[in-house]
Amino acid sequence: MHLHAAGFHHVLRKQAPHRTPVFARRLTTSSSSSLSSARTAVYATLFAASAGLFAVYYYDARSAMHRYVLTPALRHTFDAETGHKIAVKVLRSGLGPRDPVQDDERLRSELWGNELSNPVGLAAGFDKDGEAIDGILNLGFSWVEIGSVTPKPQPGNPKPRVFHLPDDEALINRYGFPSQGSASVLSRLRARIPTFHEAKDNTTAALKPRSVLAINLGKNKTSPVESPDDFVNGVKTFGTYADVLVINVSSPNTPGLRGLQNRELLEDLLASVTKARDELEPSPITARRPRLVLKIAPDLEESQIVDIADLIRNSSIDGVIVSNTTISRPASLRDPNKSEMGGLSGAPLKPRTLQVLKTLRAHLPSSIPLIGCGGIRTGADALEYGRAGASLIQVYTSFGYDGVGTCRRIKDELESLLREENTTWKAVVDDSVKKLSWTGS
Ligand SMILES: Cc1cc2nc3c(=O)[nH]c(=O)nc-3n(C[C@H](O)[C@H](O)[C@H](O)COP(=O)(O)O)c2cc1C
Ligand SMILES: *[C@@H]1O[C@H](CO)[C@@H](O)[C@H](O)[C@H]1NC(C)=O
Ligand SMILES: *[C@@H]1O[C@H](CO)[C@@H](O)[C@H](O)[C@H]1NC(C)=O
Ligand SMILES: *[C@@H]1O[C@H](CO)[C@@H](O)[C@H](O)[C@H]1NC(C)=O
Ligand SMILES: *[C@@H]1O[C@H](CO)[C@@H](O)[C@H](O)[C@H]1NC(C)=O
Ligand SMILES: *[C@@H]1O[C@H](CO)[C@@H](O)[C@H](O)[C@H]1NC(C)=O
Ligand SMILES: *[C@@H]1O[C@H](CO)[C@@H](O)[C@H](O)[C@H]1NC(C)=O
Ligand SMILES: *[C@@H]1O[C@H](CO)[C@@H](O)[C@H](O)[C@H]1NC(C)=O
Repeated sequence: MHLHAAGFHHVLRKQAPHRTPVFARRLTTSSSSSLSSARTAVYATLFAASAGLFAVYYYDARSAMHRYVLTPALRHTFDAETGHKIAVKVLRSGLGPRDPVQDDERLRSELWGNELSNPVGLAAGFDKDGEAIDGILNLGFSWVEIGSVTPKPQPGNPKPRVFHLPDDEALINRYGFPSQGSASVLSRLRARIPTFHEAKDNTTAALKPRSVLAINLGKNKTSPVESPDDFVNGVKTFGTYADVLVINVSSPNTPGLRGLQNRELLEDLLASVTKARDELEPSPITARRPRLVLKIAPDLEESQIVDIADLIRNSSIDGVIVSNTTISRPASLRDPNKSEMGGLSGAPLKPRTLQVLKTLRAHLPSSIPLIGCGGIRTGADALEYGRAGASLIQVYTSFGYDGVGTCRRIKDELESLLREENTTWKAVVDDSVKKLSWTGS
C-alpha cells in the first residue's frame, strides 16, 4: 500500500488546514509499520480505490463517505457479523479514522463530579474483547464500554445470530455472549498500560483525560443463574483496569421480581458485588476504586422498576444504564426479519427505554446518574434523553448503520441544538435531573 504518501498530504492541505503537524506525523509514520496487521483485512481494499478516498477516510471520521458509501457497502457486501468483525479489526489496527475536532464546551458532561468532554458513549457488545479501545476513543466517544466479558471463553450461539432490520432501523441479535474470556481480555488491558505509568490527578483507566473505560461483566453460560460468583470474580479481576464496571441485571425471562425470591436474589447480587468492590485496593492507574453501574432490561413493569430502585437506594451502586435490548416486538416493525429470536435494538426501542428511564429517574435520587441507551441516532434523540434525566447516552445500533462518523455527527447535531437554545448539555441535565429525581426519604 503506497497510498499514504502523496495523497495524504494533498488532502491534508486541502481539507484540513487546521490540523497540527504532530497529528500528521503520527499518522504517516505509524501507517507503514502497523499496516501489515490490517493488510489482510478485506475492508482495507475497499479504501484502496484511490488515494484521495483513502485519505478522506483517514482524516475525518465525519466524512459522509462513511455514512453513505462505506458503511452501506460493508453492510451489503458482508453478513452482519463479518461486517462487525472487520470494523473491530480496522479500529484495532491503529489505522482507523479519527474525530479531528475538539469537543465544544457546550457538550461538557459530568459523572460523579468528574468531567467528560461530551455525553456520547459506545455501548457494550461492539468491542466484546477489548481489542479496539483506543481506536474507539479516537472516534470521539467519551465512554467506551467493552464486553460483556465472561470468566471463561465461550463461543456464543450458532450463526447466524445477528439480523439487520433496515426498514426499522433496528437489529436483532442472539449472540449469546461469545467472549475470549477474562484472562485474555485482562492481558490485553495490561499491555495497554505504559510501563512507567504514574497515577496523576484525574487519570482515567481510559488513559485519556475526560473519558471513561467501562467493562461490562458477564456470566458463563454454564453458571447458575442465581449465583453472583462470576460477577464477583469479574469485579476482582477487572477492578484495577476500569473506571466503571457494569453488572447485567437484564433478566427478561424472569419477570416477577416482585416475588420474594427474586428480590432476595437481586439484593444478594448487589450486596456481593459492592462488597467485592469496596474490598479492592485503589487502582494504581486511577488511584481509586471503580464505580459500579447496573444495566437493566427495558422489559420491566413499573412495579419491577420501583423494586429495583428500592434496592439500589439501599446499596452503594453508583449508577444505572437504561437499557439493554428488548425481547418484545413492537407492532410497528415491518422488516421480514422481525420474527427472528433475540434482543431487538435500535429505533423501535427508544419509546420503551425512555419510559423506563423516566420511571427509574423518579425513584432514584439525583446522586445516582442514569445513562440512556436505546435507539439513539441523532442529536435530537440524545437531547430527548437528556431532558428525560439521562446524564450520558450510549449508542450501538446507529453506529452499526451509520459508521465511524456517528459519534461526531451526533455531537455536532446536539451542539447546534444546544446553541439554538443558548444552553449547554450540563444545564439541560442538571435541570431535568433536579426536576425528575426522587426526593423522598
Ligand atoms: C449485536 C449486539 C450485541 C450486543 N452485545 C451486548 C453485550 O455483550 N452486553 C451488553 O450488555 N449489551 C449488549 N448489547 C446491547 C447494547 O449494548 C445496547 O444496550 C442496545 O443495543 C440498545 O442500544 P441501541 O439501540 O443504541 O443499539 C448488544 C447489542 C447488539 C445490537
Ligand atoms: C480534575 O478535575 C476537576 C473536576 O473536573 C478539576 O476541577 C481539576 O482541575 C482537575 N485537575 C487536574 C489536575 O486536571
Ligand atoms: C435477514 O438477516 C439476514 C442476516 O443478517 C440477512 O442476510 C438478510 O438479508 C435479512 N433479510 C432481510 C429481508 O433483511
Ligand atoms: C444477563 O442476565 C440475564 C438474566 O439474568 C442472563 O440470562 C444473561 O446470560 C446475562 N448475560 C451475561 C452476559 O451474563
Ligand atoms: C464459570 O465457569 C468457570 C469455568 O467453567 C468456573 O470456574 C466458574 O465457577 C463458573 N462460575 C460459576 C458461578 O459457576
Ligand atoms: C439495606 O441493606 C442492609 C445491608 O446492606 C440490610 O441489612 C437492610 O435490611 C436493607 N434495608 C432494606 C429496607 O432493604
Ligand atoms: C440483554 O437482553 C437480551 C434479550 O433481550 C438477553 O438475552 C441478555 O441476556 C441481556 N443481557 C445482556 C448483558 O445483554
Ligand atoms: C445566553 O446565556 C447566557 C448565560 O446563561 C446569558 O448571559 C446570555 O444573556 C444568553 N443570551 C441570550 C441571547 O439569551
